[in-house]
Amino acid sequence: MPDFLVDEQVEDYAFISTSAEPELLQELIDQTNQNMGWPQKLSGRLVGRTLKMLSAIAQPKRALEIGMFTGYSALSIAEGMPEDGKLICCETNPRAIDFAKTFYERSEHGKKIEVIFGPAIDTLETLADQLDGPLDFTFIDADKRNYLNYYLKVKELTRPGGLIVLDNVLWSGKVIQPESDIDDVLVETNRLIAEDPEVENVFLTLRDGVNVVRKL
Ligand SMILES: C[S@@+](CC[C@H](N)C(=O)[O-])C[C@H]1O[C@@H](n2cnc3c(N)ncnc32)[C@H](O)[C@@H]1O
Repeated sequence: MPDFLVDEQVEDYAFISTSAEPELLQELIDQTNQNMGWPQKLSGRLVGRTLKMLSAIAQPKRALEIGMFTGYSALSIAEGMPEDGKLICCETNPRAIDFAKTFYERSEHGKKIEVIFGPAIDTLETLADQLDGPLDFTFIDADKRNYLNYYLKVKELTRPGGLIVLDNVLWSGKVIQPESDIDDVLVETNRLIAEDPEVENVFLTLRDGVNVVRKL
């Protein structure tokens, strides 16, 4: 499989032809690159502006992110949310949480974000008790082994009309010729979503693949 799925020049062209993220998020990218391992975990402008756009259209009051890292996608989603919206973020890396919080404090949208430390699968078990209604919007971007479990649980907690967005659904192209258990989970998750009569979806070949699912 190639290192990148979209032709590099095409990807660069899409990047410069997409609205820039706010300066604070550009700083967050720079600081993540300088101070944190695995800066490539961060979703970046094309996925981030897509999340902001979907959030601005959907106006979610109750949102969830599974896999926050340094807060780039969380702040992108929060940017599109209404003032009284609440985004709950699940994350297991304390260093990433501390880092993200310094940016939440500096952002006008940071007050919408609540971070829950610990494995997302545990957080999901008790999430309904912490929400005052069903989820309107979720971004799933962690721990591919549990993608199907996350999707099924999140779907249960989502209102009709609510959105579930899954990142990395192309899994660097490995879904075409799966070889490992994790590859199989991604293939099964994508198949189940496409065949599920309770949702409609669009599988976007954006970056590493973004599946946008709407519960009917
Ligand atoms: C790909 S990164 C998230 C990137 C982020 N959404 C962004 O676009 O900037 C995945 C994150 O999930 C976290 N993670 C891994 N396993 C997890 C789990 N079981 N529960 C919650 N978070 C987890 C990792 O620590 C990592 O920071």
